[in-house]
Amino acid sequence: MYSAVQPSGNLTIGNYTGSIRNWVAFQNDYDCYFAIANMHAITVRQEPAQLRSRTLELAAWYLACGLDADKCALYVQSQVPQHAELTWVLNSLTYVGEMQRMTQFKDKCARHADNINMGLMDYPVLMAADILLYLADYVPVGVDQKQHVEIARDIALRFNNRYSETFRIPEPLILKTGAKIMSLQDPSKKMSKSDENPNACVFLADDRDTVIRKFRRAVTDSDNRVVFSEEKQGISNLLGIYAAFAGVGIEEAEKTFAGVGYGEFKTAVGETVADVLAPIQAEQKRILADKDYLNGILKSGAERAYKAARKTLSKVYRKVGFFQGD
Ligand code: TRP
Repeated sequence: MYSAVQPSGNLTIGNYTGSIRNWVAFQNDYDCYFAIANMHAITVRQEPAQLRSRTLELAAWYLACGLDADKCALYVQSQVPQHAELTWVLNSLTYVGEMQRMTQFKDKCARHADNINMGLMDYPVLMAADILLYLADYVPVGVDQKQHVEIARDIALRFNNRYSETFRIPEPLILKTGAKIMSLQDPSKKMSKSDENPNACVFLADDRDTVIRKFRRAVTDSDNRVVFSEEKQGISNLLGIYAAFAGVGIEEAEKTFAGVGYGEFKTAVGETVADVLAPIQAEQKRILADKDYLNGILKSGAERAYKAARKTLSKVYRKVGFFQGD
């Protein structure tokens, strides 16, 4: 199993419920590689000191959320050179046209019109290299990354057909619960760490008062029933968040708040989220302060990833006809 998060911003509660928390559940049953995708992050401008500190902060969140470095390889992408090396080989099997058609590429071109760089366009190929290096069968991601995993499948099949069976064909694993948390200010949009409105997004690092205040300001509707329905996007989003954090189903969440007013409901959702976050935040702080421990985890994670990656890359080099000495 393979997945990664970019250290390009502060983590949101959506990253937690949609990604990291699920990985924790998988680590007992799969051979897992979880990366910090700093090579992907530089496809949009990053401040170097901030990129470095966010890399460590993200590693500390991984651990604080319950990832166990004995059960999975936690590592920083740029510490394993095979990611860049395999990307180069896969580039020659990938067509410019198909990269130009990728949804996220088009979105990012619109948002960063002054910086449409080659890395941005090559982003999906680097992601394919990530996944294929470890011969991953499953890639747990949010729906927005599904197209990228699909292109990784296409590239893997193309390589296998041209050079003989080499890569496994990965499958995206899109999890339902908590997979898509919407903006608190515009529930038709995904909650995004880069949203301009600070009330739209709840960060994993937000303190209790901030969390509750953001939920109290969440956009709802002019009705007064706490029920899940397509016409009630704001309330449905809050019910989904409550369910994901309280560990209950939507129906049970509806029952809990039957007859309760919106104000009280929103406060309750905020308190539930804040209660879950508090121990994780304390643990993240503690781990982040212990630099030796954190460096040790990332070092052994990179070593483990390196071993697996080197094996795959050497096979790839042999198949494409790269001279490797004897
Ligand atoms: N592109 C992913 C995101 O933005 C992060 C990522 C990089 C990733 N490499 C990956 C996810 C490989 C899954 C597999 O969320």
